[in-house]
Amino acid sequence: MTDPVIDVHLADDHAARALATDARAGLSANPKSLPPKWFYDARGSDLFEQITRLPEYYPTRAEREILGDRAGEIASTSKAHTLVELGSGSSEKTRLLLDALRDEGTLHQFVPLDVSSTALRDAAAALAVDYPNLAVHGVVGDFTEHLALLPGEAPRIVAFLGGTIGNLLPAERAKFLSSLRDVLEPGEWLLLGTDLVKDPSVVRVAYDDSAGVTAEFNRNVLHVLNRELGADFDVTAFDHVALWDEGQEWIEMRLRAQRAMTVHVPALGMEVSFEQGEELRTEISAKFRRPGIAAELTEAGFEVTRWWTDSGDRFGLSLSQAV
Ligand SMILES: C[S@@+](CC[C@H](N)C(=O)[O-])C[C@H]1O[C@@H](n2cnc3c(N)ncnc32)[C@H](O)[C@@H]1O
Repeated sequence: MTDPVIDVHLADDHAARALATDARAGLSANPKSLPPKWFYDARGSDLFEQITRLPEYYPTRAEREILGDRAGEIASTSKAHTLVELGSGSSEKTRLLLDALRDEGTLHQFVPLDVSSTALRDAAAALAVDYPNLAVHGVVGDFTEHLALLPGEAPRIVAFLGGTIGNLLPAERAKFLSSLRDVLEPGEWLLLGTDLVKDPSVVRVAYDDSAGVTAEFNRNVLHVLNRELGADFDVTAFDHVALWDEGQEWIEMRLRAQRAMTVHVPALGMEVSFEQGEELRTEISAKFRRPGIAAELTEAGFEVTRWWTDSGDRFGLSLSQAV
């Protein structure tokens, strides 16, 4: 076994500095909002793993079903030497791709990238043990900032799974896809997982489970603000809300103040007032239709070569090539 190499592109004070910028902007906006990447400290990443095992949370199982059926085809089509994974988390489903690319005999290197240092390091260590002939080169970084720093020998296949692309707003999504296209050579690959538009009641319970794990995950961002910025959010005074936006075709997670309150955020020198019932948006998760995501990929400079869904048509996986 070779020990994984880990590049760190986030400074030690990144959580404090970048979070301060996002929190200052988001908490003074009307309506208030925060980017979802701040859920994912060690506890947030662990809660997300618990979410993936909940009966209501279909996306992980649906995407795993597609990967189980199609990993061999993905490997024989791409013949990739490097598998890059963005927002890799535990990389559990990714093992299906690693197995198929190993069987194809082309894979040399795996490059997981995640903003969550603990999730990335734990996954890289476990994979280095289970895939002793594979060079694991992890990157602690932000996929909206550090794509140009990704290591790896061509041809590369970049996997962006879990429907995480749906957490970006449409303008951010377009910018992300074209930045990704810019760092790829023509002929390299993007494997993109997209949750699909479906009966809103199915989506709603996936983001508001009966065991309350998603609610804890949502509130975790307030623990992060308290720890990193010295804020004094009363975490128990916020209700978890999951709301389907029919016009945008996305689900929003929000935190709703149970009472009027003033929160102090010393690191920002800010006092933040909440009215009773006021909501803080913490995540959007857009749901897609095939023509829409295909048009976005084409616009960014990709050619969609394959499109698969699970047996319940809940989740889509596309394989595209940079043109
Ligand atoms: C919805 S989870 C998906 C995890 C995994 N890919 C899966 O399919 O189960 C999103 C993952 O992306 C990471 N993440 C979120 N925003 C990020 C960003 N801006 N840059 C890098 N990683 C990010 C989180 O830490 C988390 O591991």
